[in-house]
Amino acid sequence: MGISENLSILFCMFFFMENISATETCPTKTCGNSSIRFPFHLQGQQPQNCGFPGFGLTCTNQSNTALNLPNSGTFFVRNINYGMQQIQMYDPDNCLPRRILNFNLSGSPFLVPHYENFTFLNCPSDFARSRFTSIDCLSNSTITVLATTLKSLADSINTSCSYKTTLPVPVSLLVLQEDGFSSDLSQDLQLYWNTPDCEDCETQGGTCGFADSMNQVIGCFFSSDQGNLSYSDDTTLHVLRIISISVAIPIISCALAFILFICYVGRRHGGGAITRHSSSPNAILPQPGRVATGLGQSTIESYAKLVLGESKRLPGPNGITCPICLSDYCTKETIRCIPECKHCFHAECIDEWLRNSGTCPVCRNSPASSPSTHNQHIV
Ligand SMILES: *[C@@H]1O[C@H](CO)[C@@H](O)[C@H](O)[C@H]1NC(C)=O
Ligand SMILES: *[C@@H]1O[C@H](CO)[C@@H](O)[C@H](O)[C@H]1NC(C)=O
Ligand SMILES: *[C@@H]1O[C@H](CO)[C@@H](O)[C@H](O)[C@H]1NC(C)=O
Ligand SMILES: *[C@@H]1O[C@H](CO)[C@@H](O)[C@H](O)[C@H]1NC(C)=O
Ligand SMILES: *[C@@H]1O[C@H](CO)[C@@H](O)[C@H](O)[C@H]1NC(C)=O
Ligand SMILES: *[C@@H]1O[C@H](CO)[C@@H](O)[C@H](O)[C@H]1NC(C)=O
Ligand SMILES: *[C@@H]1O[C@H](CO)[C@@H](O)[C@H](O)[C@H]1NC(C)=O
Repeated sequence: MGISENLSILFCMFFFMENISATETCPTKTCGNSSIRFPFHLQGQQPQNCGFPGFGLTCTNQSNTALNLPNSGTFFVRNINYGMQQIQMYDPDNCLPRRILNFNLSGSPFLVPHYENFTFLNCPSDFARSRFTSIDCLSNSTITVLATTLKSLADSINTSCSYKTTLPVPVSLLVLQEDGFSSDLSQDLQLYWNTPDCEDCETQGGTCGFADSMNQVIGCFFSSDQGNLSYSDDTTLHVLRIISISVAIPIISCALAFILFICYVGRRHGGGAITRHSSSPNAILPQPGRVATGLGQSTIESYAKLVLGESKRLPGPNGITCPICLSDYCTKETIRCIPECKHCFHAECIDEWLRNSGTCPVCRNSPASSPSTHNQHIV
């Protein structure tokens, strides 16, 4: 490894340091309770290149964070989960069902984790209000609007009610479990995004941002002890790898030579400490057959999580008892579901389980073997 190569590595590092000014001009902003940073930016308060296209937010006079979807209008933001790349939104007029009837995400970077086909029905007020959860903001004194996922229910009451429409509705698991028959669809809208992918950077505690905003190249920035940022992406990793190899090879060679020397000296003295030590019973032996198959924390975190409501009812094929700890579920407990098989458990039980074993404790299917987990995850 020549001096010129080392010089060029140094040059590269300085070159990346220069780029850091880009993130320094985009400090985290707040609007009300929301903290706004990359990939989002506050339109009008931060330069366009502080955020990713489609992630522009505005802050209203009442400190509400607003997101405008190109084909669905403006929503207010309740929460942004930067680590899991999810955004929770609600209708400024508090009638999400009305917005969902004309919901179209095309032209936006956001995606729906799960759709469910809902049939909307117009029913006479006296008929529906006593038996079903109705959508109050779409109803008036004569007509009550119901939304149900059950085709059979829609058919069985179709003599009383008139069919309005059937639509794929973006819902979270939470909506489905709260009511067995019909839903008022009043929960917040949960969307997620895949691009830009800052998930790994966020879990490592870095600050995600543009390394090159012209070409939309994303980098992960780490603040050093002095509060200055250093830059890491594949290129710097490559540089670091070159450096570590150039340092490691001489060290390893020296160490090997040293060990050989010690062995040689030890043997000449009739079997020395080193030889005895390596056959001591405390030596760590490779354990055949034990393969670490647990899942990573970010994979586990990407699985649907929900807080049980008053009904304590779980979605899908799940009973009232957690199959791992065998205690009954209680209101307000946090549940996590494996997306592929829809089996649910106490979050703390299944998290611990999945860290050690990559399979569902009930059906033994391996969630890790399916590549499409991201499209399924729901909070
Ligand atoms: C901010 O959070 C507090 C407490 O969580 C809440 O009472 C308040 O309404 C929130 N304000 C906004 C603008 O969301
Ligand atoms: C918000 O404030 C600006 C100026 O402070 C004003 O021009 C605008 O009308 C206000 N908007 C609303 C919706 O109150
Ligand atoms: C959504 O909007 C796009 C663009 O306006 C349009 O091409 C598409 O057909 C719409 N999709 C639905 C389901 O309405
Ligand atoms: C909703 O209905 C459409 C058309 O009938 C179907 O293609 C789609 O798979 C259904 N979606 C779900 C989630 O059931
Ligand atoms: C209630 O709504 C229906 C349709 O949405 C409409 O035809 C009817 O006139 C409304 N009734 C009243 C009292 O507003
Ligand atoms: C109600 O549902 C039944 C069975 O699906 C169907 O035969 C009938 O035509 C429906 N009636 C109306 C008014 O839609
Ligand atoms: C951090 O950055 C500032 C401005 O870029 C510089 O003045 C300061 O010397 C840096 N501190 C260290 C420890 O590198």
